[in-house]
Amino acid sequence: MNIDDAHEGETALIPTRRLRITVNGVKRAVRIEDRQLLVDVLRETLGLTGPKVGCYNGDCGACTVMIDGTIAKSCLMLAASVEGSVITTIEGVSAPGELDELQKALWENDAFQCGFCISGHLFALRQLLETNSDPTEQEIRKAVIGNLCRCTGYNNLVKAVLQIADRRRQAA
Ligand code: FES
Ligand code: FES
Repeated sequence: MNIDDAHEGETALIPTRRLRITVNGVKRAVRIEDRQLLVDVLRETLGLTGPKVGCYNGDCGACTVMIDGTIAKSCLMLAASVEGSVITTIEGVSAPGELDELQKALWENDAFQCGFCISGHLFALRQLLETNSDPTEQEIRKAVIGNLCRCTGYNNLVKAVLQIADRRRQAA
């Protein structure tokens, strides 16, 4: 057996399955290997490159997505484990060309971050605002504790969320 034959044989032994999920409002059915991580299926099979891979071990938060209403690090999950789930990636947070309340506040406060960390930060802060419409600075910083920024820092993220809280208070 030559090397190529050996690899072919190995591939044939890898279990696969059909995965049915709803991603960003669209029902998808794809064939995956049982061993594939969710972040890889999202990025490589479905072409959704908003979730990034910064570490593959749950430290950086760059791969964060929303699964059935709760944020999760998609590098820590087998894609096979989310059969039937409803998933939102950064691509599905708002309609093309539009910004939601949090995106607008991030924009207004220069909390743009980089393409690697921003989607994770956004999901973490979104979840905070869903459960706490008037968070303190400490609560905001705690909410992004699992999302690493290695450069610009967190201050403008905090300012953006405090602005939302302030606006909501005034509107109440
Ligand atoms: S790539 Fe998932 S936490 Fe870093
Ligand atoms: S890692 Fe993204 S702005 Fe610092």
